[in-house]
Amino acid sequence: MAKVSPSILAADFVNLERDIHQIEASQADWIHVDVMDGTFVPNFSFGLPALKAVRRVTDMPLDVHLMIERPIRYVERFVAAGADWLTIHIEADTRENTMEALKKIRSMGSKAGISLKPGTGAEEALPYLSLCDLVLVMTVQPGFGGQKFKEDMMPKLAALRRCLDDVNPGCVLSVDGGIDDITAPICKQNGAEILVTGSAYFRAADQKAYVRRLQA
Ligand code: DX5
Ligand code: ZN
Repeated sequence: MAKVSPSILAADFVNLERDIHQIEASQADWIHVDVMDGTFVPNFSFGLPALKAVRRVTDMPLDVHLMIERPIRYVERFVAAGADWLTIHIEADTRENTMEALKKIRSMGSKAGISLKPGTGAEEALPYLSLCDLVLVMTVQPGFGGQKFKEDMMPKLAALRRCLDDVNPGCVLSVDGGIDDITAPICKQNGAEILVTGSAYFRAADQKAYVRRLQA
């Protein structure tokens, strides 16, 4: 069974608490929080104060996706602010700093993730696979919700699952971008266990039924 992580990037920010309680009621598994710095990606979204506020109103696991340059500078603060899962991009710093950041996240008791942009090959993830608990394959260019799913990421997803089965079988594989009723089954067939979904989740007439279909 897959886990569903609705992305609150597509929520109504004025009514964020209401939308978070709706995510709880829909029996989704995690809440996905997108953090952007205007440099690693050409957009801004949530920061530390917003994450702390979300943490105060829910006990659901918070799946925080950092789209920021040199995340090592901030990982401790994001863990302290309530990230249960903290994912950093491998394109955002040197290999050494990325490894160090993953170790810091784990040493503070949270789960560490790496993410790959669409242009980054599976082989680039290999040095980090034993240091992480989650690998996030972006199925759109990071930065914005509501984009078209890139089906050409599926061979990369399947390749990463095979690599993980060899070196770190407990590590989960996640997808983010353009996930809906049509694309989720394709991702699951290729090894995805976590489905991040923003626009399609908030568009669904019956969010509980939508979550159940994706989990199945
Ligand atoms: C994009 C974000 C995604 C986004 C997904 O950079 O990482 O989490 O919210 O939104 P949809 O599901 O609309 O593609
Ligand atoms: Zn995301």
